[in-house]
Amino acid sequence: MSKYKYRPHLNEMPSYDVVERPWKIKVNANESGMNLPPIVEDRLMGRLSRVAYNRYPNEELEYLMESIADNYGLTTKNVLIGNGSSEIIEKIFHCFGGRNHNIVFPEPSFSMYHIYTKLAEAHAVTVPLNSADYSLNVKAFVAKVNDVRPALAVVCNPNNPTGSGLKVEDIEYIAAHIKCAFLVDEAYIEFYGQSATGLLKKYPNLIIARTFSKAYGLAACRCGYMLASEELTEMIGKAVMPYHMNTMTLVTADTVFQMRDEYVPRIQQMISERKRMEKLYSELEGFKVYPSQTNFILVRYYNAVALNKDLEAQGIGLRSFGNAPALENCLRISMGTREENDMVYKAIKHFAEEQK
Ligand SMILES: Cc1ncc(COP(=O)(O)O)c(C=O)c1O
Repeated sequence: MSKYKYRPHLNEMPSYDVVERPWKIKVNANESGMNLPPIVEDRLMGRLSRVAYNRYPNEELEYLMESIADNYGLTTKNVLIGNGSSEIIEKIFHCFGGRNHNIVFPEPSFSMYHIYTKLAEAHAVTVPLNSADYSLNVKAFVAKVNDVRPALAVVCNPNNPTGSGLKVEDIEYIAAHIKCAFLVDEAYIEFYGQSATGLLKKYPNLIIARTFSKAYGLAACRCGYMLASEELTEMIGKAVMPYHMNTMTLVTADTVFQMRDEYVPRIQQMISERKRMEKLYSELEGFKVYPSQTNFILVRYYNAVALNKDLEAQGIGLRSFGNAPALENCLRISMGTREENDMVYKAIKHFAEEQK
């Protein structure tokens, strides 16, 4: 027992359990395998050299908010920028949390939702995904929300770690049939294309979280944002500290956002790599591949824990779910470069063949 007087329940809180070390091949965090496109890097280095490093961030935040708002036909009052979508999501859970509040989300989904719920001292109510294909029964989700009357309902679309996607009509059905705030975490939406941003004006309860970390390869910068009604944006904005975004991140994200057309071929390339690898893995004996709409693939293999150990020993880091509920023997493999994907596949195939 510690001598310190921590907040109640902090000691029961799980930690985010990713094994990190200097991997030879790192495909465990759904990052992009590609750094900045050279033309973006050139423009960015010029802008970074002109930053007023002695000043708190100011107009840089405005520029990025304006660029984002314009793109979606919204105003800056509908946009909140955060240090990764992680900060945004954590603040949303915080703002809807509290001891008597429920937060509903599907399971399995992004493991941080449980942690943010606990941190907010709220109560998590989960709706199990269908075990065969990890699809969400949208009607069952709505029924659960209307039954437990939460402060917040959350879906991740497409879903991490299962890769499964909900149609915009499904998101709309949920938004229309529930009364609480409804967060759609679109961290991987660029690989899927079916964003719910077009529903924002019709459904004032909708909040959409997006990130620069995945399709735009800016995980190092920590930048994400949310789009929502003026009221929700203002209320959630109260939870962030003054000058919470640093100027270098804002300038980098703004440059990337302005030059986002440069990323279209890369995103296509990541999608075609995922399709190529889905096919290869599904041909391996003993492997079940779940169809993915993201930049990663979830596979189930009877000896996944031993396989993961073998890969770790070779310096290949992927995400193993061990005995996590509904994810037993599942491994999540992020798409890296073509060469990396081939090397990971070769190592996995070799292990699988040795088991025969
Ligand atoms: C579903 C989902 N949401 C949000 C995040 C947070 O990403 P970031 O904080 O880098 O924007 C992640 C990161 O893996 C994720 O998988």
